Parts: sequence; C-alpha cells; structure tokens
Amino acid sequence: MFITIEGIEGSGKSTQIGNIAGYLREAGLECLITREPGGTGIGEKIRTILLNRDHHMLDPMAELLLYTADRAQHIREKILPALQSGMAVVCDRFIDSTIAYQGAARGIGPQTIHELSRLVLPDLRPDVTFLLDLSPEVGLLRAWKEIESGNRDGGQSRFEREKIRFHETVREGYLALAAAEPERFRIIDAADPPERVRDAIFSVLRERLTVREDLFHRNMPT
Ligand code: TMP
Repeated sequence: MFITIEGIEGSGKSTQIGNIAGYLREAGLECLITREPGGTGIGEKIRTILLNRDHHMLDPMAELLLYTADRAQHIREKILPALQSGMAVVCDRFIDSTIAYQGAARGIGPQTIHELSRLVLPDLRPDVTFLLDLSPEVGLLRAWKEIESGNRDGGQSRFEREKIRFHETVREGYLALAAAEPERFRIIDAADPPERVRDAIFSVLRERLTVREDLFHRNMPT
C-alpha cells in the first residue's frame, strides 16, 4: 500500500504522517515513512539545494529536473524495494507536488511534467493521497511561526518566501488534481484542529484496510 500526503506549507503534514504510521503499525503493517524532496542520502543533498532561501535565481526547469532527479533516486532506492517486500509506504509529498508547484504555480504546465515522468520514472501511482487543504493565509502564518520558534530551519525557506498568489495557485492546482481523480484523493480540511484531521484520516484508513482484508479473505482457499 502506497500512501501519499500533500498540501501547502503549514498544512500539518508532518504531524499527520506520524499518526498515519502509528495507525498502520497498530494494524500490523510494517511501514516506511519517507519524504520528497529527500528520503535518500542523495535526495537530502538535492533537498538542501532546492529549499535554500538564497537560491532565488534557480531556473524553473532546473528546479523541475532536480525534483525529478530526487524522485528517480527515491523510487528506485527506497519506495519500490519497500513495496516489493510487502511494506506500506507513507510518503510526505510525491508527483502531485510537482504538478501543483512546478506545473501550476511556476507555469510549466502538467503536460511537460507527465512527459518527463514517463521518460525517466517507473510507473507508480499512490493508492491513496490525502490532500490537507488550507488557505495560504493560514498555512503561511503557521509555517512562519514554526520557523520563528526554531522548529523549522529558516535557511530552508525558499518556498515560504514566495508570494501569496503563488501559494493560491498551488492550492488550486491540488484541488484540480483531486477533482480529476476522486477515487485516489481524499480532501481533508486542514483548518480543523489536528485531532479532527487525524480522525478524518483514520476513518479513510479504516475503510481502505477493511477493503483490503475483504479481498484477502475472498482470495483465501476455503
Ligand atoms: P516540505 O518538505 O517542508 O513540505 O518542503 C518541500 C518544499 O518543496 C515545499 O515547499 C514544496 C516543494 N516541492 C515542489 O515544489 N515540488 C515537488 O515536487 C516537491 C516534492 C516539493
């Protein structure tokens, strides 16, 4: 089972990823928690280039290629081996981030991203994607509070420094993706208190795991 979690800055993904992992382990599944950009030794190095607040001159195509390089490494080194060994994989951001940030907000368009992915990445689609939906005003306020309190590295804040319009376009990009694939996406209201967000996520997980169990029992010899 491959689960991804998406959302703008300050949407609370990190808190919820811990909850998802706890739920899956409780249900007896071995679980890999990972993230993009990052998730591998090489990916963490790519991450520092991408998020460095001083890299405002980074060309949008160079940015796209770096995210794609990170993903190529991550899928082959971590995600596929974990899925093949029967583990559940929970990933903080995946290709939907590229479509929302580079495709929509940077204006590259979804077509180039799909074509590039088809050329260089294995064909891999999440089973479930949680979209933690939130207004950028609230999200950025939360994100900057985290930075000011020292919980997030202010040196790695290139995206937090983008204009509010950029983040609105990211959000619109996500909502368009969710509308196009309603069976994969679950939109969760991230303005709710964290416990309500957690419960909404748990009820989706409960439903998905029950479906899996039903399938498993149906395929068992009687
Ligand atoms: P985060 O790990 O704190 O969410 O930060 C990662 C940043 O990178 C976030 O601002 C979104 C951005 N991003 C993209 O622009 N494209 C991508 O493909 C991914 C995975 C992340």
